[in-house]
Amino acid sequence: MRIVITGASGFLGRLLAERLLHTRTFAGGPITRLVLADRVVAPEMPQASGALVEWVHGDLIDRVEAVFAEPVDVLFHLAAAVSAECEADFDLGMRSNVDSTRTVLEAAKGQSVAGGPVARVVFASSLAVYGSHPALPLPPVISETTLPVPRSSYGTQKLMCEHLIADLSRRGFIDGRVARLMTVAVRPGPPNAAASGFLSGIIREPLAGLPAICPVDAGLKVALSSPRRTVRGIIRVAEAERGTGLGRLDSPLPVNLPALTVSVADMLATLRQVAGDTAADLVTVAPDPAVEAIVGSWPAVFDNRRAAALALQPDPSFLAVVREYLADHPEAVIVGSE
Ligand SMILES: NC(=O)c1ccc[n+]([C@@H]2O[C@H](COP(=O)([O-])OP(=O)(O)OC[C@H]3O[C@@H](n4cnc5c(N)ncnc54)[C@H](O)[C@@H]3O)[C@@H](O)[C@H]2O)c1
Repeated sequence: MRIVITGASGFLGRLLAERLLHTRTFAGGPITRLVLADRVVAPEMPQASGALVEWVHGDLIDRVEAVFAEPVDVLFHLAAAVSAECEADFDLGMRSNVDSTRTVLEAAKGQSVAGGPVARVVFASSLAVYGSHPALPLPPVISETTLPVPRSSYGTQKLMCEHLIADLSRRGFIDGRVARLMTVAVRPGPPNAAASGFLSGIIREPLAGLPAICPVDAGLKVALSSPRRTVRGIIRVAEAERGTGLGRLDSPLPVNLPALTVSVADMLATLRQVAGDTAADLVTVAPDPAVEAIVGSWPAVFDNRRAAALALQPDPSFLAVVREYLADHPEAVIVGSE
């Protein structure tokens, strides 16, 4: 099986690559080739050397022929520009998120039309497809049947791609699957340009002894998922057989990956519990209307039943999420923990 990950040098792409290189199987079959595509060269990914792995560097639009130089069985499409970038630069978002996806989908369609395999295309969408509009307020609990009304260019671009994938799947050109990711926290490394980036920063920076700004009111509730559970969810959606019943993907609808609902105040209280007052006092709450407009429009409470049918559960608590970060990134933590 030849498997491709686009955005393989990114946060989740790297974790997904590491996971697949660890198991070396997909849906019970052996992975014979793992193609890692990204315009950025990952600084270090020790497992990603060796005969199994092939790197395709460069912008996806320019390098799609290399990605499809041999038949693609499964393509995890993670390459994207993040929310605040897309809000700041409309054209960049359209190119990175819509044009790139369209290019990949055209190549996958070309492969099956030419008699090659129908590629399984797994798209990392986002909870940002949902948004509350005064004329169409969100219900208190969101499910896959809730009408997505995005309130950002990023969410709109993700939704456009979802529709395209659904139509190409309906026509039999691809076997498309859409996993809508919650905000993934705690993200290691330097801050990124996602509007939700502070949801990692308010934990990660104080744990490293650094100050952090919380740009929203602490009463805001958010929907989170840990990196490990998110990657597990993406793989589960990818591997599931279609059909009805437990463990099967039973309709063309996307899957909202399971959400842990937590308020920012609860997150800060967990930080105080884990790392003490000195670390927690490094966070300054200073609401920024631009960030609040994006992150505040996203829903926080999800009906996780469709994910549960695939044996996916939300993180048990935010404390568990922080402990996972401490265990996975001891090098990034300088403050004492409980
Ligand atoms: N991390 C989250 O909280 C979150 C939440 C919801 C959805 N998602 C989605 O999950 C996916 C992965 O997220 P992430 O946090 O790993 O993002 P990331 O920014 O860490 O990684 C994205 C990678 O894609 C690459 N890339 C972007 N455009 C490209 C292009 N045109 N050609 C080649 N490479 C390109 C970037 O170089 C980067 O390495 C994205 O599609 C994102 O929208 C993430």
